[in-house]
Amino acid sequence: MKTMDIVIDHLTKEGVGVSKLNKKPMYIMYAIDGEQIKVNIDYEGQRNVFCSINQIIKPSSFRCNPKCNVYYQCGGCHLSHMTYKGQLDFKTKTVQKLYNEQFQNVKVIPCVGQDNPYFYRNKVQVPLQKKGKNIIAGFYKEDTHEIIPFEQCLVQDDLSNKIIKQVLIAMKENKIEPYNEDFQTGIIRHILIRRANKETMLVLITRIDSFPGRNNFVNSIRKKLPEVTTIIQNINSRHTNVVLGEKQKVLYGKGFIYDTLCNIKFKISPKSFYQINKEQCEKLYTKAIELANLTGNEKVLDAYCGIGTIGMIASKKAKEVIGVEIVSDAIKDAITNAKINNIKNCKFYCEDAEVFMKNYHGDKIDIVFIDPPRKGCSETFLNSLIKFAPKKIIYISCNPETQVRDVKYLNSKGYDFKEIYCYDMFPQSFHIETVTLLQRQNIGNKLKVKFD
Ligand SMILES: C[S@@+](CC[C@H](N)C(=O)[O-])C[C@H]1O[C@@H](n2cnc3c(N)ncnc32)[C@H](O)[C@@H]1O
Repeated sequence: MKTMDIVIDHLTKEGVGVSKLNKKPMYIMYAIDGEQIKVNIDYEGQRNVFCSINQIIKPSSFRCNPKCNVYYQCGGCHLSHMTYKGQLDFKTKTVQKLYNEQFQNVKVIPCVGQDNPYFYRNKVQVPLQKKGKNIIAGFYKEDTHEIIPFEQCLVQDDLSNKIIKQVLIAMKENKIEPYNEDFQTGIIRHILIRRANKETMLVLITRIDSFPGRNNFVNSIRKKLPEVTTIIQNINSRHTNVVLGEKQKVLYGKGFIYDTLCNIKFKISPKSFYQINKEQCEKLYTKAIELANLTGNEKVLDAYCGIGTIGMIASKKAKEVIGVEIVSDAIKDAITNAKINNIKNCKFYCEDAEVFMKNYHGDKIDIVFIDPPRKGCSETFLNSLIKFAPKKIIYISCNPETQVRDVKYLNSKGYDFKEIYCYDMFPQSFHIETVTLLQRQNIGNKLKVKFD
């Protein structure tokens, strides 16, 4: 095996170390910028070189031993070889670099971390597999379909670890086989767990509708895990990577859970989006609402609203809020959420945000919150948004790359921005959550639009 000594120049946005060999980029997993490392050259292609660490000659001050004993096998986390300070520093620098490539003088506020960067995930989704006589659950090893089982996953709520173990025991006792994707046999494909203040939802994603042993299985879970307040079966018979299927039945309890976020009670159904880190989410939403600087007279649009969280929190300080979201269960939750909290100034629409914006003929919208999925907003959506000419746009994103792209477009059409705020919603992983305020430049009639 060919080895060589190198110095890590920088990290990719996925946290992979980069150096150079014969002008070709050299990628080294689990390396930290500034480190001097002896690497094994595992693959040298025409354009790229891939290496692994042989020996760390001069470690970074951010290097630490990961707490998780399957960290180097499991693809779930990416930064646990860095101290938490190092992870936050990496996230701030990554966002700064992305913005510096497109703009001058953008200030990135240092990434706001979590007091305890472990056991934060309130949603866990794990695939199952048969290994010998055992059933295992865990995350897929990077770029494979091989499951790496864990005893205790350190980023998920600890009750979830207990539930996963108990589900596997109950499956064995009731002779319920895990799904086999090669042969399209077996029953349970994934386990999905959602935790809230006092309630816990367990969703069993199955290949087929009914299966022998189901009632005993559910009874045994209820007996062993009284913390589980509802059990749902979701049926997904498709041969895809999409986890949830269309059809579902409630096997026990009410079929949803309630959580409280920023002092508002939210109903959450299995298919509705809900932020996975409550502590950090409250910090993020508080900043987003603060940036809007609402006076009570504004009409607000919450685009990509999920179960209505941001809009409902903003509604306390706004005249009126409308929310739009594509997932019908999420909109049903949002409508219920307004009712149970006695919020009367919010309306929710189930539609593709792009289509909604194009067809909107209501009153002038003053403030828009956007919180799109990872792919960001389409140009059609952004063009409609620009025609609306809101005074302020608060753009929340879980993918700074697409946020920069969209912010650049909005900036070219008359929206200024100064600062980017980062929140660490996903400690131990490379994912970053950001929020920024875009304000309409004062350019007279150019951006104004006529509403019918
Ligand atoms: C990042 S989540 C944000 C949800 C919500 N703002 C929150 O913080 O809980 C993005 C949401 O956009 C929804 N979505 C995805 N594509 C959409 C589209 N084309 N139109 C409307 N909503 C969409 C997803 O279902 C999801 O609820």
